[in-house]
Amino acid sequence: MRRKIVAGNWKMNKTLAEGMELISEIAASPASSEVLKIIACPFIHIPGAVQELKALHGFAIAAQNCSEHASGAYTGEISAAMIASTGATHVIIGHSERRQYFNETAAVLTQKVNHALANNLVPIFCIGENQEERNSNQHLEVVKKQLKETLYHLAPADFSRLIIAYEPIWAIGTGLTATSHQAQGMHNFIRSEINKKYGKEISENTSVLYGGSCNAENAKELFSCMDVDGGLVGGASLKATDFINIINSFTVSPTE
Ligand code: PGA
Repeated sequence: MRRKIVAGNWKMNKTLAEGMELISEIAASPASSEVLKIIACPFIHIPGAVQELKALHGFAIAAQNCSEHASGAYTGEISAAMIASTGATHVIIGHSERRQYFNETAAVLTQKVNHALANNLVPIFCIGENQEERNSNQHLEVVKKQLKETLYHLAPADFSRLIIAYEPIWAIGTGLTATSHQAQGMHNFIRSEINKKYGKEISENTSVLYGGSCNAENAKELFSCMDVDGGLVGGASLKATDFINIINSFTVSPTE
């Protein structure tokens, strides 16, 4: 059975005090215990968030990035080992903003995935096409290439630890959401590609999240798609009530 997951990607938002307040609000709100709730906050919030949420069931803390290097003279960088040492358990890798603004190539992302896995962090690996690629009907090929270039060197046991996030670039922060038809079509394609490479069991057990203007209004419909196992949520994760409403959009009853 695949895990239902909602991950909040705060991006570069919230001072330390603001972030800790948001964590406290999330912790105090009743959210479905059947959903794994991941908070991908800025590095500075991670130790506090781990502390605040560790006693609560079904929460995990993620970093939004890690270095492609293990350690050493890389001023300003944070390694996978450093992230793991805080108690964080997940890390977003390959977000389109990192690919675009920080020139992260498939080769760099491969290093990041390897370091994350070597340090027992679960990579939340992001893939997705831009508007032009969607318009010219290349979206399936683009996503297939992103999977293949960065992940297909992994042994099945390592691949099975990953979470995949499909984030069409044209939907990120734009208010344009993929329709449930588009999301289901792509998620089904991703699962079938994983099946081809790693077999049925791994493909059926890999959680594939949707990201791109996911909010409390559209989450229910998106999450009802057979191959959509939850969401990677940016803007709407910055308010506790919106984030909790998205978590509770699965057709399961909130119990804690
Ligand atoms: P958004 O961002 O929900 O603000 O569109 C999603 C993401 O980039 O992970």
